[in-house]
Amino acid sequence: MAPRVKPYAESAASYVPERPTLDTVRAASKGCKACWLWTLGTQTVFGEGPRQADVMFVGEQPGDQEDKAGRPFVGPAGKLLDRALEQAGIDRESVYVTNAVKHFKWERGERSTRRIHKKPNDAEIRACRPWLDSEIGLVRPRVIVTLGATASQALLGKQFRVTKDRGKPIPSPLAEAIFATVHPSSILRAPDAAARALAEKELIADLTRVARHLRAQARQSAPRGARASATRTERRTTKKPSGRGPSRELPMAARGRR
Ligand code: URA
Repeated sequence: MAPRVKPYAESAASYVPERPTLDTVRAASKGCKACWLWTLGTQTVFGEGPRQADVMFVGEQPGDQEDKAGRPFVGPAGKLLDRALEQAGIDRESVYVTNAVKHFKWERGERSTRRIHKKPNDAEIRACRPWLDSEIGLVRPRVIVTLGATASQALLGKQFRVTKDRGKPIPSPLAEAIFATVHPSSILRAPDAAARALAEKELIADLTRVARHLRAQARQSAPRGARASATRTERRTTKKPSGRGPSRELPMAARGRR
């Protein structure tokens, strides 16, 4: 039984270490009590992936399985995302995955013992934002992909509509571009197999656009002779273009060192 605590949401900013690295920020996030969601979740689910990742995926919040495992996108939505990434030609091991909110918000189903996902509210998303800003500042991804309305509106504004502007590169001070697409969970909730297949195809199409953007930008920034031969591994280990340095207008806490 989850403890009963009156909902509250302050900012996680005071929990973020002054000289952040991914390891120290991850460790600090484990003790976060900036909002009441720590009383619901089993543990903080921080993002994971290479520090040099070119792409960062941002979901809403961990689900039931992620909450238990302490890792993002390891449940059914994560499996679907894995498949879509493979189809789009994006190496799953090369991307960083995280969430706008780091604790699982849930309520007990009326007639079951299952923990039912509950959408985080604006105050909870705001309270958790320093963790996401830290991840963005430390990883400095070239592209951020927001999955679903919660993550998209957190990074692109409340007026943003995934249905209208999905799959397009959107300029942002946070990265070269943000691409918004649907959340894989929404595909799992599709009413029938045909709708699910179509939604999955559309997700793959959006991710294929992300892959194309990365290739096109890599060609533009690579020195002449290297353009044709740059492999994914080479790109991953190559220093990112200087335009993506800490001079971007990130909140202080997000300006980490690589
Ligand atoms: N849904 C999310 O938004 N994030 C996860 O990590 C899992 C499911």
